[in-house]
Amino acid sequence: MSKKVIIVYSGGLDTSVCIPMMREDYGFDEIVTVTVNVGLPAEEIKQAEDKAIAMGCKHYTKDCVDEFAKDYIFKAIKANGDYQGYPLSTSIARPLVSQKAAEVAEIEGGEAFCHGCTGKGNDQFRIEFGLRALKPDMKIIAPMREHTWTRSAEIEYAKERNIPITVSAEKIWSIDENLWGRSIEGGKLEDPYYAPPEEIFKWTKSIADAKSDPTEVVITFEKGEPVAIDGVKLDPVALVKKAHEIAGDNGVGRIDMMEDRILGLKVRENYECPAARLLIPAHKALEELVLTKEEREFKNVVDMKWARLAYDGLWWDPFKEDLESFIDNTQQRVTGDVRVRLFKGSLQVIGRRSPFALYNEDLASFDSKTWDQNEATGIVKNHGMQSIMYRKVMQSNK
Ligand code: ARG
Repeated sequence: MSKKVIIVYSGGLDTSVCIPMMREDYGFDEIVTVTVNVGLPAEEIKQAEDKAIAMGCKHYTKDCVDEFAKDYIFKAIKANGDYQGYPLSTSIARPLVSQKAAEVAEIEGGEAFCHGCTGKGNDQFRIEFGLRALKPDMKIIAPMREHTWTRSAEIEYAKERNIPITVSAEKIWSIDENLWGRSIEGGKLEDPYYAPPEEIFKWTKSIADAKSDPTEVVITFEKGEPVAIDGVKLDPVALVKKAHEIAGDNGVGRIDMMEDRILGLKVRENYECPAARLLIPAHKALEELVLTKEEREFKNVVDMKWARLAYDGLWWDPFKEDLESFIDNTQQRVTGDVRVRLFKGSLQVIGRRSPFALYNEDLASFDSKTWDQNEATGIVKNHGMQSIMYRKVMQSNK
C-alpha cells in the first residue's frame, strides 16, 4: 500500500530538501505539497509550485491573502498586536498555513504531515499546534529538527538531487515574508552588535533616502478596522499595501530588536513592517479618544495577553476567544479618523475625531465656565483618604 505524506511547503531550501528525504529516508512514495499564499510575490508562489511539480509531487497552492488580511491582520490591529516590539507578522500567518494544510489532508488523506521548521525556532510550535488541533490523528515529521544540516551540506544534497536552488552558502539571510511584514534573520545579523545592512530591506527607504518633506495622511477606522486612507475606501489587502507604501517611502517600519523566543532563547531579529507601524499607532490614538480610562487600562493587559497567545501560535485557544470577545466589544466604538504625519523615519499622530469621542471641548477647555471649579474642592480633599489614614495609623503605632 502506498504511503502518503503532506508537506507544508514554502519552496525554500529546507522544505525542498524535505521532498527527497521523505522518499529516501522516511519511505513515503506519494508526496503532496501545500503552499499557502499569505502575500508573497506571485512569481515566488509560481516558483514553489513549479519546483514541487518538477520533483514529482502533487501540489496545492492555496491563495489566502484576503483571508489573511481580514481574519488575521485586522484582528491583530484591533488588539494592537505587538510582542516585545514585533508586530507578529510571521506569527499570525502560521495558524492559517496549518489550517490550509489540514484542509488538504482532509481531501487527500495521508498518514503524516511534514514541515521544514528547525528545533530552535517558534514556527515548530505554531505549525504543529495547528496541525494537531485540526488533525489530531496524523503523525508530524520534522526532518530539519531530526537531522541537523550544515548550510553547505544541505546545498550540496540539493544539488546532487537537481533541486533548483536560489540560495548560496554565503548569502544567508533567512527571510520570511507575507502581507503583514518581512522577518530577516541569520548570517552576520546573529551578532547583535552588527548594524543591519541596507540590502536586507525591500519595502522601506533608509532615513537618508526617505522623502524629504513630511507626508500627512488620514486613516479612517470603522469598529476598529481600517477602511480608508485619505478618504479612499480600500479593501483590506489594498489598504495594507497602501499603508506599506506610505510608511515605507517615509522610512517608517524598520525594527531591529532582541526577541525572547518561546523556548526562552534570546535572538536578534530584524523586521520590516511599515503598515503595522502606521496603522497600529493610528488605531491606538482612536482608542484613546473613545474608550474610558478603565477600558484603556484593562485593554493594555488584554492586548498583551492576546499578543502572547498569537506569538505562541495558540490561535485556537479558548482564552484567545475570551480575550477577543472583550476586544471586539470595545471596538464597536473605535470609529473615526486619525491624522498622522510621517517624516524621515518618524511618525506622529496629529489629530483624531470620532462620533463616539468621550471628550467635551467645553468641559476640558481652560476658558470654559461650564464646570464650577469650586466643586472640585471637596473631591480633592478626600483624594487619597485611605493613604492619609494609613500614615496616621503607622505613626501612632510606632
Ligand atoms: N522570530 C519571528 C517569529 O518567531 C520570525 C521568524 C521568521 N523566520 C525567518 N525565517 N526569518 O515570528
